[in-house]
Amino acid sequence: MVQATPFLLVLFLALGAHGHTVKKCILAGHWKNDIGSNMTISEVKENGDFTGIYNTSVSATTKIVPSPLLGSQHLPYLQNQPTFGFTIHWNFSDSISVFTGQCFVDNDGKEVLKTMWLMRSRVGKLEDDWKATRIGYNEFVRQETHE
Ligand code: BTN
Repeated sequence: MVQATPFLLVLFLALGAHGHTVKKCILAGHWKNDIGSNMTISEVKENGDFTGIYNTSVSATTKIVPSPLLGSQHLPYLQNQPTFGFTIHWNFSDSISVFTGQCFVDNDGKEVLKTMWLMRSRVGKLEDDWKATRIGYNEFVRQETHE
């Protein structure tokens, strides 16, 4: 029993650490990015699909309204620090944005979503196609809810 105790302790810690990682990087919840945009992702389904609402802090237009997002993620109990993607159908402009990224757990146990995005804005004629797509990076951190 004396010899078994350290083994059980190590096993417990290993399982505990694994469980910790598994709980992280399920994307459901509230997130804020480096330019102050917020998104709320609803429950992630068993196959990784999710829906949510995106509230951007900036816009190429004047008006901003919370807009729906539709996405999918690989699930962290299958692969740690999973990849994901989502599309935002802006309710107040003719644009569509697509984000793709990966959820990381940093050395402090904090989840960070590293993403790249493309935003396609509608242009009126073929000759303007060259200027219709923007590209960029955003980093999101989880907003803890204090209820
Ligand atoms: C538009 O301007 O037509 C829609 C709003 C676009 C907001 C973009 S999407 C990529 C970048 N990251 C954000 O959080 N907001 C901007």
